[in-house]
Amino acid sequence: MDIDAEIRKLDWNREPKGLYEPIGYALAAGGKRIRPKLALLGALAVGRNEKDVLPAALALEVFHNFTLLHDDVMDKAEVRRGRPTVHVKWNENTAILSGDQMMIEAYKLLSRVPEDKLPKVLRMFNKMATEICEGQQLDVDFEQRNDVTIAEYMEMIRLKTSVLLATALQIGAYIANGTDEEQQALYDYGINLGLAFQIQDDYLDCFGDPETFGKAIGGDIREGKKTWLWLTAHATGSETAALLDHCAGNVEEVLRMYEETGVKKAAEEEIARLTKKAMACLEVLKENKATKALKTLAEKLAARNK
Ligand code: IPE
Ligand code: IPE
Ligand code: MG
Ligand code: MG
Ligand code: MG
Repeated sequence: MDIDAEIRKLDWNREPKGLYEPIGYALAAGGKRIRPKLALLGALAVGRNEKDVLPAALALEVFHNFTLLHDDVMDKAEVRRGRPTVHVKWNENTAILSGDQMMIEAYKLLSRVPEDKLPKVLRMFNKMATEICEGQQLDVDFEQRNDVTIAEYMEMIRLKTSVLLATALQIGAYIANGTDEEQQALYDYGINLGLAFQIQDDYLDCFGDPETFGKAIGGDIREGKKTWLWLTAHATGSETAALLDHCAGNVEEVLRMYEETGVKKAAEEEIARLTKKAMACLEVLKENKATKALKTLAEKLAARNK
């Protein structure tokens, strides 16, 4: 199924334009479409019910894009997918309200899942949505704290990023009549994939090519985000920590220290470790085309540059 084409079929040509145009703009900008792809693969990994999963897959992508509109306001990010963010192209009020409407549109799409499956899908979706807000709040709280541990960071990214990938897989598997065990295995794969994915996102925020990555480089450093790289660099010793605090916000200096202290390399190793851990979660499933595709996807994402 061509999920990108399905997303483009959604019609945002509605009044008032000020509310709907930014939604069309955000969704037309491309993106990797990982979450709907995971929902479809979750279904294919356990059964053959791909078509029934489409409304939920679309809901997950619209919901993801809603979180991005608000996240870019919160992170003062001016570029996404190589284009001005909604709050820059329009204004913050637009990013807030069009974002709110996108969340509602996501629930409208979700309401189209097969009726017998809807109550449980709604519970899974709501749990995920709340956890993302909790993760986003921790991310903001951590900006003001200097004692954040790696364990706290991992929990924060599990909430803000992993649960959406994991729930996409789980919902796909559930709609396709997967067993509880199959749903759990796919969920666990998604959690570890998401952890690797967010550390990779932190890494690309430092070492990516802005053209390919589609976002400005150094945003996390400027905003004082407690990323995996920042926390790991601080853990290497008090001298490094003092030096890093001294050049806080200075992107070039911080990047140089990440390279010199071996943190850049350590991040690459951590992404590889979590990717392997994700793939191992699939072992309990019967191997088929979809489980193989999930393994390939994990490898591809670990090597991504966008
Ligand atoms: C961005 O997600 C937000 C994170 C969780 C890092 P993606 O990297 O999946 O963004 P798109 O949808 O492909 O643009
Ligand atoms: C993404 O974290 C988490 C959510 C949007 C929920 P980031 O703030 O790192 O994502 P990007 O880098 O802006 O895409
Ligand atoms: Mg952001
Ligand atoms: Mg953010
Ligand atoms: Mg980021």
